Amino acid sequence: GAPVEVNVGKIEPGQLVRAEWRGKPVYVVRRTEKIVADLGNHEAQLRDPNSEEPQQPEYAKNAHRSINPEIMVALGVCTHLGCAPTHHKGDFEQHVAGVTDGFFCPCHGSKFDMAGRVFSGVPAPTNLMVPEHSFPKADTLLIG
Ligand code: FES
Repeated sequence: GAPVEVNVGKIEPGQLVRAEWRGKPVYVVRRTEKIVADLGNHEAQLRDPNSEEPQQPEYAKNAHRSINPEIMVALGVCTHLGCAPTHHKGDFEQHVAGVTDGFFCPCHGSKFDMAGRVFSGVPAPTNLMVPEHSFPKADTLLIG
């Protein structure tokens, strides 16, 4: 499939936009400074905080799992059985105490943070997949 281009300059801080790549949904989020900082406050609750599992691009093997800390790029496909996790902006504490933003899978309750990192104790075995991506220009995200 052809690479897909997203103009990230048009994404408001905190907002998620959906793209489609190879028939799969891709979530692209412009993280706020607070969201980036908060990635460090719950790592003990994560299964694989540094994304050391295989099949991830090298640039996903860090806490924010992306090239640009501000821009999250991940498949919107739960790694359990493939449902679409729901983005919770500011109201994620109903799922994880002390964490304001994240993703909740409505199918069997898997929980992911704003880097797509899976919380321990849920059915999803791994973090959300990060597709290959690049930034040919500062505001141009190329997926694939
Ligand atoms: Fe997401 Fe089962 S498909 S928890």
